[in-house]
Amino acid sequence: MRRRLAAGNWKMNGTGAALSELDTLTATHPSPTVDILICPPATLIHRAGQAVQGSGVAIGGQDCHAEVSGAHTGDLSAEMLKDAGATSVIVGHSERREDHGEKDDDIRAKARAAMNAGLTAIICVGESLEQREAANTLDIIGGQLSGSIPDLATGENLVLAYEPIWAIGTGKVPTLEEIGEVHDFIRARLERRFGEGVGRSVRLLYGGSVKPDNAAEIFGVSNVDGALVGGASLKARDFSGIISALEQA
Ligand code: PGA
Repeated sequence: MRRRLAAGNWKMNGTGAALSELDTLTATHPSPTVDILICPPATLIHRAGQAVQGSGVAIGGQDCHAEVSGAHTGDLSAEMLKDAGATSVIVGHSERREDHGEKDDDIRAKARAAMNAGLTAIICVGESLEQREAANTLDIIGGQLSGSIPDLATGENLVLAYEPIWAIGTGKVPTLEEIGEVHDFIRARLERRFGEGVGRSVRLLYGGSVKPDNAAEIFGVSNVDGALVGGASLKARDFSGIISALEQA
Protein backbone atom coordinates (compact mmCIF):
# COMPACT_ATOMS: atom_id res chain seq x y z
CA MET A 1 0.00 0.00 0.00
CA ARG A 2 1.23 3.46 -0.86
CA ARG A 3 1.22 5.86 2.07
CA ARG A 4 -0.67 8.93 1.00
CA LEU A 5 1.05 12.31 0.94
CA ALA A 6 -0.18 15.86 1.43
CA ALA A 7 2.59 18.20 0.21
CA GLY A 8 2.50 21.99 0.50
CA ASN A 9 4.59 24.28 -1.71
CA TRP A 10 4.90 27.74 -0.21
CA LYS A 11 6.72 29.03 -3.31
CA MET A 12 8.24 32.51 -2.70
CA ASN A 13 6.04 33.19 0.31
CA GLY A 14 6.85 33.37 3.98
CA THR A 15 9.32 34.88 6.43
CA GLY A 16 9.95 33.82 10.00
CA ALA A 17 6.44 34.89 11.01
CA ALA A 18 4.98 32.12 8.83
CA LEU A 19 6.55 29.46 11.06
CA SER A 20 3.60 29.83 13.42
CA GLU A 21 1.52 28.09 10.72
CA LEU A 22 3.68 25.01 11.30
CA ASP A 23 2.96 25.12 15.02
CA THR A 24 -0.74 25.17 14.23
CA LEU A 25 -0.35 22.35 11.74
CA THR A 26 1.54 20.05 14.09
CA ALA A 27 -0.89 20.81 16.91
CA THR A 28 -3.90 20.07 14.69
CA HIS A 29 -2.42 16.79 13.41
CA PRO A 30 -0.51 15.25 16.33
CA SER A 31 -0.54 11.75 14.82
CA PRO A 32 -1.40 11.95 11.13
CA THR A 33 -2.23 8.79 9.19
CA VAL A 34 -0.82 10.30 5.98
CA ASP A 35 2.58 11.83 5.24
CA ILE A 36 2.64 15.62 5.50
CA LEU A 37 5.32 17.71 3.81
CA ILE A 38 5.82 21.46 3.72
CA CYS A 39 8.25 23.00 1.22
CA PRO A 40 8.94 26.53 2.48
CA PRO A 41 11.41 28.95 0.88
CA ALA A 42 14.98 27.70 1.40
CA THR A 43 15.62 30.48 3.92
CA LEU A 44 13.13 28.82 6.28
CA ILE A 45 14.07 25.15 5.86
CA HIS A 46 16.32 24.97 8.91
CA ARG A 47 13.94 26.77 11.26
CA ALA A 48 10.95 24.91 9.81
CA GLY A 49 12.73 21.61 10.45
CA GLN A 50 13.22 22.58 14.07
CA ALA A 51 9.60 23.71 14.38
CA VAL A 52 8.23 20.34 13.23
CA GLN A 53 10.76 18.14 15.03
CA GLY A 54 9.17 15.05 16.51
CA SER A 55 5.91 15.60 14.62
CA GLY A 56 4.47 13.87 11.55
CA VAL A 57 5.31 16.87 9.38
CA ALA A 58 8.42 16.81 7.18
CA ILE A 59 10.18 19.68 5.41
CA GLY A 60 11.30 19.87 1.79
CA GLY A 61 12.97 22.17 -0.72
CA GLN A 62 11.47 23.67 -3.87
CA ASP A 63 14.42 23.17 -6.21
CA CYS A 64 18.07 22.07 -6.13
CA HIS A 65 21.14 22.28 -8.33
CA ALA A 66 22.28 19.19 -10.21
CA GLU A 67 25.79 19.35 -8.76
CA VAL A 68 27.02 18.70 -5.25
CA SER A 69 29.01 21.94 -4.90
CA GLY A 70 30.88 24.50 -6.97
CA ALA A 71 30.82 27.92 -8.57
CA HIS A 72 27.06 28.39 -8.94
CA THR A 73 26.20 31.66 -7.27
CA GLY A 74 22.80 31.69 -5.65
CA ASP A 75 22.14 27.97 -6.12
CA LEU A 76 21.70 25.28 -3.49
CA SER A 77 22.70 21.63 -3.76
CA ALA A 78 20.57 18.71 -2.64
CA GLU A 79 23.19 17.98 0.04
CA MET A 80 22.72 21.49 1.43
CA LEU A 81 18.95 21.08 1.59
CA LYS A 82 19.37 17.76 3.35
CA ASP A 83 21.89 19.26 5.75
CA ALA A 84 19.39 22.04 6.53
CA GLY A 85 16.71 19.49 7.42
CA ALA A 86 14.90 18.67 4.17
CA THR A 87 13.76 15.13 3.39
CA SER A 88 12.43 15.88 -0.11
CA VAL A 89 12.76 18.39 -2.89
CA ILE A 90 10.40 19.46 -5.66
CA VAL A 91 12.05 19.49 -9.09
CA GLY A 92 10.67 20.56 -12.45
CA HIS A 93 7.80 22.65 -11.14
CA SER A 94 6.21 24.43 -14.11
CA GLU A 95 7.23 27.77 -12.61
CA ARG A 96 10.88 26.62 -12.72
CA ARG A 97 10.38 25.27 -16.23
CA GLU A 98 8.90 28.64 -17.31
CA ASP A 99 10.82 31.20 -15.23
CA HIS A 100 14.21 29.49 -15.54
CA GLY A 101 13.90 27.61 -18.82
CA GLU A 102 14.44 24.25 -17.16
CA LYS A 103 14.18 21.32 -19.56
CA ASP A 104 13.58 17.64 -18.91
CA ASP A 105 17.34 16.94 -19.05
CA ASP A 106 17.99 19.54 -16.33
CA ILE A 107 15.19 18.14 -14.22
CA ARG A 108 16.47 14.58 -14.56
CA ALA A 109 19.92 15.74 -13.44
CA LYS A 110 18.43 17.56 -10.46
CA ALA A 111 16.28 14.58 -9.51
CA ARG A 112 19.32 12.31 -9.72
CA ALA A 113 21.26 14.69 -7.47
CA ALA A 114 18.40 14.71 -4.99
CA MET A 115 18.21 10.91 -4.91
CA ASN A 116 21.97 10.61 -4.53
CA ALA A 117 21.79 12.97 -1.57
CA GLY A 118 19.16 10.75 0.08
CA LEU A 119 16.23 13.04 -0.67
CA THR A 120 12.93 12.10 -2.28
CA ALA A 121 12.53 13.93 -5.60
CA ILE A 122 9.03 15.21 -6.30
CA ILE A 123 9.09 15.54 -10.08
CA CYS A 124 6.36 17.71 -11.60
CA VAL A 125 4.85 17.19 -15.03
CA GLY A 126 1.91 18.88 -16.70
CA GLU A 127 0.50 20.27 -19.91
CA SER A 128 -0.37 23.83 -20.91
CA LEU A 129 -3.93 24.81 -21.83
CA GLU A 130 -2.92 24.99 -25.47
CA GLN A 131 -1.54 21.46 -25.34
CA ARG A 132 -4.68 20.15 -23.66
CA GLU A 133 -6.95 21.84 -26.17
CA ALA A 134 -4.91 20.32 -28.99
CA ALA A 135 -5.49 16.89 -27.37
CA ASN A 136 -1.74 16.49 -26.78
CA THR A 137 -1.86 16.00 -23.02
CA LEU A 138 -0.76 12.37 -22.86
CA ASP A 139 2.00 12.87 -25.43
CA ILE A 140 3.36 15.79 -23.47
CA ILE A 141 3.19 13.96 -20.15
CA GLY A 142 4.75 10.85 -21.71
CA GLY A 143 7.67 12.90 -23.01
CA GLN A 144 8.18 14.61 -19.65
CA LEU A 145 8.14 11.26 -17.85
CA SER A 146 10.73 9.66 -20.14
CA GLY A 147 12.91 12.77 -20.06
CA SER A 148 12.82 13.81 -16.44
CA ILE A 149 12.87 10.61 -14.36
CA PRO A 150 16.35 9.17 -13.69
CA ASP A 151 16.96 5.42 -13.91
CA LEU A 152 17.68 5.12 -10.20
CA ALA A 153 14.08 5.94 -9.24
CA THR A 154 12.36 3.78 -6.62
CA GLY A 155 9.12 3.96 -4.68
CA GLU A 156 11.02 5.64 -1.84
CA ASN A 157 13.05 8.26 -3.69
CA LEU A 158 10.49 9.31 -6.30
CA VAL A 159 7.11 11.03 -6.09
CA LEU A 160 5.40 12.18 -9.26
CA ALA A 161 3.15 15.25 -9.29
CA TYR A 162 0.72 15.83 -12.16
CA GLU A 163 0.13 19.57 -12.33
CA PRO A 164 -1.74 20.92 -15.36
CA ILE A 165 -0.17 24.36 -15.83
CA TRP A 166 -3.54 25.97 -16.50
CA ALA A 167 -4.87 24.73 -13.15
CA ILE A 168 -2.08 26.20 -11.02
CA GLY A 169 -3.23 29.20 -9.02
CA THR A 170 -6.23 29.72 -11.28
CA GLY A 171 -9.08 28.05 -9.40
CA LYS A 172 -9.62 25.86 -12.49
CA VAL A 173 -9.43 22.11 -12.00
CA PRO A 174 -9.62 19.34 -14.60
CA THR A 175 -12.61 17.02 -14.42
CA LEU A 176 -12.19 13.94 -12.25
CA GLU A 177 -12.15 11.88 -15.47
CA GLU A 178 -9.31 13.99 -16.86
CA ILE A 179 -7.30 13.63 -13.64
CA GLY A 180 -7.95 9.87 -13.60
CA GLU A 181 -6.91 9.47 -17.23
CA VAL A 182 -3.53 11.14 -16.66
CA HIS A 183 -2.85 9.37 -13.35
CA ASP A 184 -3.66 5.95 -14.85
CA PHE A 185 -1.42 6.80 -17.79
CA ILE A 186 1.47 7.80 -15.49
CA ARG A 187 1.04 4.61 -13.45
CA ALA A 188 1.11 2.46 -16.59
CA ARG A 189 4.23 4.24 -17.87
CA LEU A 190 6.03 3.79 -14.54
CA GLU A 191 5.15 0.08 -14.45
CA ARG A 192 6.34 -0.37 -18.01
CA ARG A 193 9.68 1.32 -17.39
CA PHE A 194 10.48 0.25 -13.84
CA GLY A 195 8.49 -2.97 -13.50
CA GLU A 196 5.35 -3.53 -11.49
CA GLY A 197 6.99 -3.49 -8.07
CA VAL A 198 8.56 -0.05 -8.37
CA GLY A 199 5.90 1.28 -10.74
CA ARG A 200 3.15 0.53 -8.27
CA SER A 201 4.98 1.91 -5.26
CA VAL A 202 5.65 5.43 -6.58
CA ARG A 203 3.18 7.94 -5.19
CA LEU A 204 1.28 10.11 -7.67
CA LEU A 205 0.09 13.52 -6.51
CA TYR A 206 -2.38 15.79 -8.22
CA GLY A 207 -1.60 19.54 -8.06
CA GLY A 208 -3.43 22.63 -9.28
CA SER A 209 -6.03 24.59 -7.30
CA VAL A 210 -6.58 21.89 -4.67
CA LYS A 211 -8.69 23.38 -1.85
CA PRO A 212 -10.38 21.98 1.23
CA ASP A 213 -13.70 21.90 -0.63
CA ASN A 214 -12.57 19.98 -3.73
CA ALA A 215 -9.94 17.74 -2.11
CA ALA A 216 -12.20 14.83 -1.13
CA GLU A 217 -13.50 14.23 -4.66
CA ILE A 218 -10.01 14.48 -6.14
CA PHE A 219 -8.68 11.99 -3.57
CA GLY A 220 -11.41 9.58 -4.65
CA VAL A 221 -9.87 9.29 -8.14
CA SER A 222 -7.91 6.11 -8.85
CA ASN A 223 -4.13 6.45 -8.64
CA VAL A 224 -4.32 9.79 -6.84
CA ASP A 225 -2.18 9.25 -3.74
CA GLY A 226 -2.32 12.81 -2.47
CA ALA A 227 -1.81 16.40 -3.53
CA LEU A 228 0.80 19.04 -4.14
CA VAL A 229 -0.80 22.22 -2.87
CA GLY A 230 0.29 25.81 -3.45
CA GLY A 231 -1.97 28.62 -2.25
CA ALA A 232 -4.02 26.51 0.14
CA SER A 233 -0.90 25.29 1.96
CA LEU A 234 0.03 28.76 3.22
CA LYS A 235 -2.58 28.77 5.96
CA ALA A 236 -2.57 25.83 8.35
CA ARG A 237 -6.35 25.91 8.58
CA ASP A 238 -6.82 25.42 4.81
CA PHE A 239 -4.08 22.83 4.50
CA SER A 240 -5.47 21.00 7.48
CA GLY A 241 -8.80 20.58 5.68
CA ILE A 242 -6.95 18.98 2.78
CA ILE A 243 -4.99 16.69 5.11
CA SER A 244 -8.20 15.58 6.81
CA ALA A 245 -9.81 14.85 3.44
CA LEU A 246 -6.81 12.72 2.51
CA GLU A 247 -6.92 10.87 5.82
CA GLN A 248 -10.55 10.01 5.17
CA ALA A 249 -10.08 9.05 1.49
P1 PGA B 1 -1.98 26.01 -6.37
O1 PGA B 1 -0.47 25.61 -6.80
O2 PGA B 1 -2.44 24.98 -5.39
O3 PGA B 1 -1.86 27.37 -5.80
O4 PGA B 1 -2.79 25.96 -7.65
C1 PGA B 1 -0.13 24.27 -6.99
C2 PGA B 1 1.33 24.15 -7.29
O5 PGA B 1 1.89 24.98 -8.02
O6 PGA B 1 1.98 23.20 -6.81
